[in-house]
Amino acid sequence: MDKKTFYITTPIYYPSGNWHIGHCYTTVVCDAFARFNRMLGKDVFFLTGTDEHGQKIEKKAQEKGLTPMEFINPLVDELKEIWRLLDVSYDKFIRTTDDYHVKSVQKIFEKLYEKGEIYKSEYEGLYCAPCESFWTETQLVDGKCPDCGREVQKAKEESYFFRLSKYADKIIELYENNKEFLQPKSRVNEMINNFIKNDTGLQDLCVSRTTIKWGVPVTFDKKHTVYVWIDALSNYITALGYGSEDDSLYKKYWPVDLHLTGKEIIRFHAIIWPAILMALGEPVPTQVYGHGWLLIGGDKLSKSKQDKVGAELTDPLKLVQRYGSDAIRYFLLREIPFGNDGVYTNESLLTRINSDLANIYGNLVSRTTAMINKYFGKLPSGKIANELDKELIDMATSLFDKVQEKMDQINVPEALNEIFKVLSRANKYIDETEPWKLAKDETQKARLGEVLYNLSEVIRICSLILTPFITQMPKKALEMFGLDDKVNIQEVKTYGILKEGITVSTGVLFPRIDMTEEIKKMNEIAAQKQAQKQETKQKEDVKEEISIDDFFKTELKVAEIIACEKVAKSKKLLKSTLKVGEETRQVVSGLAEYYTPEQMVGKKVILVANLKPAKLCGELSQGMLLCAEKDGKVCLITPEQDMPSGSTVR
Ligand code: ME8
Ligand code: MG
Repeated sequence: MDKKTFYITTPIYYPSGNWHIGHCYTTVVCDAFARFNRMLGKDVFFLTGTDEHGQKIEKKAQEKGLTPMEFINPLVDELKEIWRLLDVSYDKFIRTTDDYHVKSVQKIFEKLYEKGEIYKSEYEGLYCAPCESFWTETQLVDGKCPDCGREVQKAKEESYFFRLSKYADKIIELYENNKEFLQPKSRVNEMINNFIKNDTGLQDLCVSRTTIKWGVPVTFDKKHTVYVWIDALSNYITALGYGSEDDSLYKKYWPVDLHLTGKEIIRFHAIIWPAILMALGEPVPTQVYGHGWLLIGGDKLSKSKQDKVGAELTDPLKLVQRYGSDAIRYFLLREIPFGNDGVYTNESLLTRINSDLANIYGNLVSRTTAMINKYFGKLPSGKIANELDKELIDMATSLFDKVQEKMDQINVPEALNEIFKVLSRANKYIDETEPWKLAKDETQKARLGEVLYNLSEVIRICSLILTPFITQMPKKALEMFGLDDKVNIQEVKTYGILKEGITVSTGVLFPRIDMTEEIKKMNEIAAQKQAQKQETKQKEDVKEEISIDDFFKTELKVAEIIACEKVAKSKKLLKSTLKVGEETRQVVSGLAEYYTPEQMVGKKVILVANLKPAKLCGELSQGMLLCAEKDGKVCLITPEQDMPSGSTVR
């Protein structure tokens, strides 16, 4: 028998900076699943929340002169506001600073310690503070954090460890015995090769800190706080009352049906989390799914990337205000091939809105309802009269099963694609049946009624099936036919539910956006923002006064470039050999975008001669060449008349 409950979770997000539509992606996808399963009649529990402890938040708050809570609270409020505007129907919002969570995490930690699953030792490793992750040497990419590309630091401290290594085989067994556990399938090998069977094998996991104050205290060793991942992952069970007096929700909903997360944290969910649960003696999740990223300008959309591209394009509040929640939800659900990365641009968003929501769905509804009013004033009676009708209606009545099949495969874009195929078919049906011609011929009145009735049924069925995905337009469309958005599965599979003679209202569901105008506007906003940034930067660039002695600390000399070549590993750098009087020097400068090596050779230039030597891309640089620069144009400074190399400049 099919399970009656459905428990689904998003990651809990760090309230450490501005929210962006990457966070909305996972949450909106979860919401679609939650709503779809409610539609199936399941008892759904949909959990989301915030991950509030750790060094990064501690630091950010400090920088702003706030307590962590003062820093976090407005961000959490804003996130809840975003979910409200996007119609996210979560059943519970957990904050890891919630009292019940803290208590339950402490119990979990104690229990693991008592069972010998956690032990005390000393940790030494390479730590990325922004990601709050320790890495081994081999995991680093170019010596830097493989997740964010930032510097890592050696760190050593007394810590508690979880015996993760002990679970390596059990985790592999879990993947083997339960093919559905980790999705998409490609992630299985990724986990095994990169983390379980890599050079070091699966290592025990550091689960406490003495250096971080902002965390859950370890009850039996007060100088330690629980390190973020045990704290964070446990949210999925503490939210259900695990370890509390009332664990009825836990009994009802655990194990979770689906943990949906971005691929960068899948290892925590597919390795560490099941191991913790095994250690606790609790059932592991039914399924963990690591989806791809929303990319912007070729990179993962992130808080730092958002600062660069501008909030206009990425801030969920701004986007929802501008285009409405249906548009943003639809774009996120439809545009990104599920499991893969997807590119976000303003154009792709607008194209989706116009081509699907306005042209296909909105247009079908407004044309149909307008014709009903024009030709009949109320809903005419209808039937399936010929092959064309049958094809259309069959598509509509079999749609739910197709959508369900795609949802079972966790493929939301394809589920939506199925719905839009039927809507497109209905538009084509209008072109084929040409109701405006039928209307001119009184003997065709009954046929005209059939056509419009059939179209109305397609609108009814598609709108109902759309309600888990987009929440506003379908409701409006159904209201035009005097219906609400409550779904009875039998009725979305059945033809002939709408009653002849009902009044039908009409209107535009989704206005087309003028793409050219809109893109122009967005570009103008972006340009303004850019100009503001530049202005602030220029103000910062005005330097303070210095004395003549300060100036004469710089030794400037005329030098002649006698050889020059590109630095192999770099797009920007040129390596020049200079003659400075009797001396020869090598200087590396960022001029490759402005000069070819050939153009450099033979020039007399001004060298900063007493600069400390440095290495750039592995090449020694003994000085610097003076250049003039404005608005991206760069040129070398040369003596106004020919001067011998080695001449002093002052
Ligand atoms: O990792 N594309 O929190 P976080 C798609 N607190 N999804 C994106 C995205 C993008 N460009 N950017 C963010 C944490 N996300 C931990 C999780 S769970 C026990 C603890 C989504 O604020 C995606 O779901 O960094 C990703 O996994 C999550 O936000 C990371 O959120
Ligand atoms: Mg992150």
